[in-house]
Amino acid sequence: MGRIILTGDRPTGKLHLGHYVGSLRNRVLLQNEGNYERMFVFIADVQALTDNADNPEKVRQNIIEVALDYLSCGLDPEKVTIFIQSQIPELHEMTQFFSNLVTVQRLQRNPTVKTEMALRGFDGGASDDNRRGLPVGFFTYPISQAADICAFKSTTVPVGEDQEPMIEQCREIVRSFNGTYGPVLVEPEILLPSNLVCRRLPGTDGKAKMSKSLGNCIYLADERKEMEAKVKGMFTDPGHLHVEDPGKVEGNPVFTYLDAFAVDSDFEKYWPDYANLQEVKDHYTRGGLGDMKCKKFLINVLNDRLEPIRERRHAYEQDIPAVYEILRKGSEAAREVAAQTLHEMKDAMRINYFDDAALIASQAEKYRR
Ligand code: TRP
Repeated sequence: MGRIILTGDRPTGKLHLGHYVGSLRNRVLLQNEGNYERMFVFIADVQALTDNADNPEKVRQNIIEVALDYLSCGLDPEKVTIFIQSQIPELHEMTQFFSNLVTVQRLQRNPTVKTEMALRGFDGGASDDNRRGLPVGFFTYPISQAADICAFKSTTVPVGEDQEPMIEQCREIVRSFNGTYGPVLVEPEILLPSNLVCRRLPGTDGKAKMSKSLGNCIYLADERKEMEAKVKGMFTDPGHLHVEDPGKVEGNPVFTYLDAFAVDSDFEKYWPDYANLQEVKDHYTRGGLGDMKCKKFLINVLNDRLEPIRERRHAYEQDIPAVYEILRKGSEAAREVAAQTLHEMKDAMRINYFDDAALIASQAEKYRR
């Protein structure tokens, strides 16, 4: 059996460069390498609702944004099944069965859940005015995420490193299910980006993470002008006041982005004074290289990557009904697979009562007089 690749995103906003280098770019490569039996990419609207219950309209509006981002990056619905989580009701049944195999204490130890609870004021630790109760659905979303993965017997889950605890928790659930009921499910492996800087791209403000709530994102859907303005306003080395001053490359997001995006041929094309990024870094560190020159180069590099994405997006935007049709067909195809797995699970749990002729016969025997 070949690899089964699966991954997804919450539809809470448009996707940005952090998503792109952390996962999207990798997915398109995986798709085109073709070294898999099946590949699924899905929009995790049910998960998005676990902390947006009062705002379903936000989730609804962002389904199409994420779908457009997928297609414009080059995901091909002929090769990849693209679907919407809420359209696969089998996932909820699986989640329910898995819940019985997971303890509250184990969920409380999940580092991603801990961080995300604190971020949302769900941990009781926030100040009184933004303290909120913890929704049960949010607390248990790692279980539902395990169902997402298991329903398709995924072997390979390409995600960012913040998702590592989710995959680990899923593996435990698989071991527990298979140990209790029999070998039905498959333990997945995480697939991280090989380029370390891509695992967590900083924001344009230099903060650790690109994130919508911090307002430090460059979106895939940004027009060239918006992207340019954001790069020109980027945080650099605050100690690099004059061109001749030595500059710092570490913690300088302009260089982190170049690490994530620039390839040697970009220098030939846009900055022939240098052969590669190391030469630019050396010059910047010595002093004598201005921020704006580096930023102009970054703009060219980013635009080179983003222009084809933007063009494909514009084309798909002119045929939105076709995009929904892709999602509908993908959801239908995904549902077939999930239904098959659920059936196998219920067989293993011996709760497919009506398929169980031996059960019916033995009960009949027991009560016969
Ligand atoms: N938790 C993921 C995120 O926030 C989204 C997600 C939901 C997911 N279910 C998944 C990712 C299953 C991989 C596999 O980005």
